[in-house]
Amino acid sequence: MATRCIISLAASILAVALVSVAAASACLVVGFYDRTCPAAETIVQQTVAAAFRNHSGVAPALIRLHFHDCFVRKGCDGSVLIDSTASNTAEKDAPPNNPSLRFFDVVDSAKSAVEARCPGVVSCADILAFAARDGVKLAGGVGYPVPAGRRDGRVSREADANNDLPAPTSTAAQLVDNFAAKNLGLDDVVTLSGAHSIGVSHCSSFLERIYNFTNTTDGIDPSLSKAYAFLLQSVCPPNTTDFFPTTTLFMDMITPTRLDNKYYVGLANNLGMFQSDVALLRNATMKKLVGSFIRSDAAWKRRFARSMIKMGRIGVMSGTQGEIRRNCRVINPVNAIDDAGAHHVLPGSAGSSSGLSTGVATS
Ligand code: HEM
Repeated sequence: MATRCIISLAASILAVALVSVAAASACLVVGFYDRTCPAAETIVQQTVAAAFRNHSGVAPALIRLHFHDCFVRKGCDGSVLIDSTASNTAEKDAPPNNPSLRFFDVVDSAKSAVEARCPGVVSCADILAFAARDGVKLAGGVGYPVPAGRRDGRVSREADANNDLPAPTSTAAQLVDNFAAKNLGLDDVVTLSGAHSIGVSHCSSFLERIYNFTNTTDGIDPSLSKAYAFLLQSVCPPNTTDFFPTTTLFMDMITPTRLDNKYYVGLANNLGMFQSDVALLRNATMKKLVGSFIRSDAAWKRRFARSMIKMGRIGVMSGTQGEIRRNCRVINPVNAIDDAGAHHVLPGSAGSSSGLSTGVATS
């Protein structure tokens, strides 16, 4: 595996001169752009840090964007960043994403700055993975190296986001199945749910729990602290969805902007915002892990970094697969896929300047 990655990295570097490259093993390496765009990770970090100084919500937004990129369809291919067109509703406009995904403009800024320095080299999927890592660090989490070399996909469909993303009403078994479909384990479910230690939710994501919960006299989910439920009701009236669709609340009542283990402390005190959060207490193995994270912030942070790296590997394309999108919102227009599936790039086009211009579009 390591040898294949080294070959892949060498091949990518060679490709700049050789126009096409055959190696396409789906593996990633830390420092992938060391030779082709050494400033890439620093540029992304500086862009994210500047945006974070203006709004602390940038960190959770980027982490969630990366998650929603990786969990939908094939995996981390930057498809969540693609805009809808007249003939296609993209992932970002699916109900689990719109209007809740935010700060796409931060990714755009990072991409523009990187493109200005090294055009056609760094994928949008990698920029998003770097940006999420930077968000984790800025919000108080641990830093971690991001293996890179992802290629961008050319497909983004609303239906895939609807099908692949876990619902906030998920049970423990549904979460485990959903993550298993992406080769992630029960421990990753518990560990990555800790991302809800920062960021906000719209009322619509938990309204049912505070007004219409089945088999209760007051309509409130009994696994929710009454005081917390009343607080949620005061901010989110029953008609919220119609009249206040943009109202949001922090998900972690204890340290809302700090990426730490207090999410788990809140969970154990009936302050979990979604049924999917509470589900972590319904399975004995998960509950044990929650307990261990409550006892050690450092242990959770270490595992969180590991799980983020694992998530960032889901279904990635590398080598000559996919493309390096020039604008993260738009599939490269110069590329055309004919009926036989052959992938063409016009001479001197965006794709060819990276040297990774030929091959078969696999997405
Ligand atoms: C386990 C299954 C999960 C479910 C059901 C779930 C569901 C949700 C929901 C419903 C929201 C609020 C959306 C809104 O109404 O605005 C949210 C927010 C968020 N989620 Fe998750 N999530 C899950 C796992 C994850 C994972 C694995 C990550 C990252 C590693 C993550 C990171 C976040 C972040 C950071 C926010 C806040 C976003 C912001 O402030 O812009 N979630 N999640």
